[in-house]
Amino acid sequence: MTPQEMKQLLKERGAQVEAWLAGCLDGRDLPPRLRDSMLYSLQAGGKRLRPVLCMSTAAMCGLEPERVLPFAGAIEMVHTYSLIHDDLPAMDDDDLRRGKPSNHKAFDEATAILAGDGLLTDAFFVMSGLDLPAPCVLAALREFALAAGSSGMVGGQEWDMIFTGMESITLDQLRLMHAMKTGAILRASCVCGAMLAGADAAALKAIGDFGAALGVAFQIADDILDVVSDTETLGKPAGSDEEQGKNTYPKLVGLDKSRELARGYADSAQAALARFDGREAAFLAALADYTVNRTA
Ligand code: IPE
Ligand code: IPE
Ligand code: MG
Ligand code: MG
Ligand code: MG
Repeated sequence: MTPQEMKQLLKERGAQVEAWLAGCLDGRDLPPRLRDSMLYSLQAGGKRLRPVLCMSTAAMCGLEPERVLPFAGAIEMVHTYSLIHDDLPAMDDDDLRRGKPSNHKAFDEATAILAGDGLLTDAFFVMSGLDLPAPCVLAALREFALAAGSSGMVGGQEWDMIFTGMESITLDQLRLMHAMKTGAILRASCVCGAMLAGADAAALKAIGDFGAALGVAFQIADDILDVVSDTETLGKPAGSDEEQGKNTYPKLVGLDKSRELARGYADSAQAALARFDGREAAFLAALADYTVNRTA
């Protein structure tokens, strides 16, 4: 698949996610300020990579991607919550996100905390109501909860905070932090799509390997972009990692080696797809390239 075809499909599926997110709080009775704050971050743009991965692995395993759209949208709700909390003064203290003032700047800290809490909890409400066979939904929900919680993203964010300001950490510590804070949710986004499609254990294993490698490549690329890109392109403050004393791949091994490692993880991700063919597999392979070649 050419990069242009990949971008087109990413855009099409991203637009389906956007449309779903726009209506995800409709008909619910919320305090207006909380609703505004949740929608403010949900609708600020973003690459929508995680929900698109979920839809695409479902499609690769034979299910119409639209069938998992609410689950995919709920994944983006969890991701958006993680960004709102990540930007808080107590964490990365970043004032810009997706090209707009961070949630706590546009609203206030208490509202940002509650908007994150609301998005996280509401996401599981959405997931549990998905119109697909209950055993598949339950398996996917458990998979995603594990990845988002203390043994996944939340735990990885804690390692990130513990490592912040440390003179140096080992490559193993960095790898673990990346696998948890970013890899776990990217991996689960891929695995859940396949689970919802009723994929067998061998397919789930391969798709999990794909997602885990993709996730680490994605965070290494994020660390690189923080150094080499600019705030306008990123839509979030460039140079924030160094300013905060974060331990990152560029800090630990330098830019060239970081690029080499990111490419290596993208290659491993693509190798994990060997047993699949067709358009969706080609799309996922192209997304692995995009993950390391992207400019934002
Ligand atoms: C940012 O994720 C946080 C990381 C895990 C690096 P994205 O780069 O996917 O952010 P959006 O969703 O496109 O804004
Ligand atoms: C955050 O990593 C990963 C999350 C779980 C939100 P970063 O702190 O590097 O993400 P950005 O650079 O702020 O998007
Ligand atoms: Mg962070
Ligand atoms: Mg951050
Ligand atoms: Mg970053």
